[in-house]
Amino acid sequence: MAADEGVRALRETLGAQVVMLPGEFGDRRVEDWSGLPSAVPLALVRPRDTAEVAAALALCTRHALPVVTQGGLTGLVGGANLRGDEVALSLDRMNRIVEIDAVSGTMTVEAGTPLQVVQEAASAAGFYFPLDLGARGSCSIGGNLATNAGGNRVIKYGMMRDQVLGLEAVLASGAVVGGLNKMIKNNSGYDLRHLLTGSEGTLAVITRAVLRLRPKPTATATAWCGLPDFAAVTTLLTRAQAGLAPGVSAFEVMWAGYHDTVLANLDTLRAPLASPHPFYVLLESVGTDPVRHGEAFEEFLGTMLEEGIVSDAALASSEAHAQAFWAIRDAPGEYQRFIPDHAAYDVSFSIAQVGEAAALCEARLRERWPGATILVYGHLGDGNIHIVVDVPGMPKHDHDDIDRIVYDVTREFHGSISAEHGIGVKKKHFLRQSRTEADVESMRAIKQALDPHGILNPGKIF
Ligand code: FAD
Ligand code: LAC
Ligand code: ZN
Repeated sequence: MAADEGVRALRETLGAQVVMLPGEFGDRRVEDWSGLPSAVPLALVRPRDTAEVAAALALCTRHALPVVTQGGLTGLVGGANLRGDEVALSLDRMNRIVEIDAVSGTMTVEAGTPLQVVQEAASAAGFYFPLDLGARGSCSIGGNLATNAGGNRVIKYGMMRDQVLGLEAVLASGAVVGGLNKMIKNNSGYDLRHLLTGSEGTLAVITRAVLRLRPKPTATATAWCGLPDFAAVTTLLTRAQAGLAPGVSAFEVMWAGYHDTVLANLDTLRAPLASPHPFYVLLESVGTDPVRHGEAFEEFLGTMLEEGIVSDAALASSEAHAQAFWAIRDAPGEYQRFIPDHAAYDVSFSIAQVGEAAALCEARLRERWPGATILVYGHLGDGNIHIVVDVPGMPKHDHDDIDRIVYDVTREFHGSISAEHGIGVKKKHFLRQSRTEADVESMRAIKQALDPHGILNPGKIF
């Protein structure tokens, strides 16, 4: 069989240290966090450098052997999952920080480096790497790039594509493209960095990247606010962006249903406010003036309370106190403990329409399943909310009716079916709810040009 020959060629060329066969990688996890079906790969390829990735891909192309690239396996859309006829290519051994250039403000890393390692190395060098999300300890920079990850600080610093200056990747042919560019400005033709960012392993394997570091904030102010209605939430956002001198670094909104459910189910969490509110906002602002920053933030919050935009608020008095607020926002990492069969969505709308779209979604879902648990929360500053639906007795593989309700509302409001997690296999049948036929054809043409034999992550996105 061609596949067997391909695996044999990989093993002969790269050795048993790099190319492991089923039975040799034990019970190592080979599927992502989505809970979608996956399979055992024909082989697990763990290259140690770009040259080994290039050799592996050239062989896979020659033998028409499909390849699924894997990073930290925290993806939520089945993008790193397997059908069973592919090899898995893991970047887990390519996890070194190559260089920190303090003058240019850059960090060069291999793609398998975990996000948290990058954050900590930046901090130790006196810088800040702003991308942050709940899976920080496990997700890799390559995965963050391949999914164009968003997370909690997009409102101030942008998504993953805004954190990368140079990107080295290997095409299906084995050709190495891009490079370790440190320039902020580079208009020398098509920007492959942005084409490959968000390509979900379908166009190339990202091997190394030059990340952009930011000045390290020396003051952080964090508050947990209770608000009376959605209009107050958007007013607080607008006023905070205009009124807080260094701007807003996080604006995470939680509808009451989310707040009450996670607090009821996770006994490590404590409600920051004594009385209930329809909406909660975790507001954070980072700055560089340790004296004035906290005072100005407190003054701003006082004004919001006086004007009734915020009904009640708790100001974090220490880093641990702020962490306790963030623990409530990071609770989705614990869903498996109390709603393991939930359906999850990451949709986006214009900020002005988020409240109306969420309310319509919730009303249609409630009408159909009055007993459902519906949690709404997210990165409102980016127009991105997460909707989580758990219908008692409904198994994980049976979410089609929920999908249709959520994605119909998304289409009606001209929103996006994926604000940040990507399409993977989970949403590919809904791609046209957010993209035109001409868009999809353009994507196919790009795929065909870069991966003519279709070996890279087949069956994903399209
Ligand atoms: P994987 O899951 O291994 O792979 C994801 C996709 O990228 C796959 O299609 C894979 O083929 C491809 N890929 C991986 N590495 C490479 C590479 N080197 N080259 C080419 N393709 C590659 N996401 C957000 O955007 N915002 C959030 O706030 C957020 N919060 C999360 C919270 C939790 C608790 C969890 C579990 C996940 C969360 N995610 C979030 C989703 C996930 O963490 C991100 O998508 C992350 O960027 C995936 O990185 P990874 O290394 O785990 O990738
Ligand atoms: C979050 C992930 C799920 O924001 O994107 O919690
Ligand atoms: Zn998110």
